[in-house]
Amino acid sequence: MSANLLSGVSRGTASLTAELSARLSRTAVVRTNEPLARHTTLRVGGPADAYVGPASEADLAAALGFCREREWPFLLLGRGSNLLVRDGGFRGVVICLADAGFAGIEVTGQRLTCGAGARLKAVAHAARRHALTGLEFLEGIPGSLGGGLRMNAGAMGAGLFDVVDAVRIMDFHGQVEERARRDIPVAYRSCPLFRDHIALSAVLKAQPGSHEAIAERMSQFSQRRWSSQPAAPSAGCIFKNPSAIPAGRLIDELGLKGTRVGDAVVSPAHGNFIVNEGEATAADILALIDLVQQRAQAERGIALETEVEIVGQD
Ligand code: EPU
Repeated sequence: MSANLLSGVSRGTASLTAELSARLSRTAVVRTNEPLARHTTLRVGGPADAYVGPASEADLAAALGFCREREWPFLLLGRGSNLLVRDGGFRGVVICLADAGFAGIEVTGQRLTCGAGARLKAVAHAARRHALTGLEFLEGIPGSLGGGLRMNAGAMGAGLFDVVDAVRIMDFHGQVEERARRDIPVAYRSCPLFRDHIALSAVLKAQPGSHEAIAERMSQFSQRRWSSQPAAPSAGCIFKNPSAIPAGRLIDELGLKGTRVGDAVVSPAHGNFIVNEGEATAADILALIDLVQQRAQAERGIALETEVEIVGQD
């Protein structure tokens, strides 16, 4: 270990983290050298220099201000369900909104006000408890509302923005505003607003329904998902669907299901999932992604684009 390293954390990082901690409320979480494999559904990824769980919008704005002043890169993390962190981890601050301060769900009439850290599954269940229909499809989308908004997630033929009424956002300077759905352009699996804004919460709209019909719809969606998607750790679909053919079908037709690099395997259940069978590294998963992309390009002339966000260093 070199002289300026202390338990794997450089003194510079440790003192920066202490300074950052002093700017935040006492209930905020601040840790150094946090293994990101703990925070991603793929269960891979090296450590972040610092990890922050803000307790409030003021904490979040303070953390962003600190990162700006010190030119410390930051990364927003929800439930880590669409994220591949490289094995060397992330040199900067990971800000996670999955903690209590940002994960609330409030139901008023036919509207649900949900924090960015709320699980989409929990949103679907809250709507069911209040006999509200239209949000059943959220049951099957892994991850948080914030992550889902950022990537314009969808399932079962519906998209998250179909049910958004308004979004509360913060820019990287800590300014907060509300945007109505009509003022938010979205594209397939992307929402450009979140390139320079952070979702804080959203108001989702639903309609009155019957408990039984809602429960039935949710259970049908869940059965469809479990019969076609793997249960092992994954990041959901790894590639965006190209216009010519769904990525899962293409990978299946290429005979790539079951292909493995280390413990990273193209799921035999669904071609567009890469699962971690236990000890996979990010390097294994990236090598497998590359292999699939090369075969799709060479044999079908199709450029597969990753849906999963890839961050960090090797
Ligand atoms: N298919 C195959 N072989 C496979 C996988 C799929 O032939 O190994 C075929 C299916 O039979 C179907 C077509 O490909 O005819 C499409 O497959 P599927 O219905 O499973 O849908 P998908 O397009 O692969 C999308 C979303 C999923 C979402 C499902 C269910 C994308 C990239 N994926 O998958 O979302 O759960 O629909 O609604 O849009 C995610 O985004 O992470 C995700 C899992």
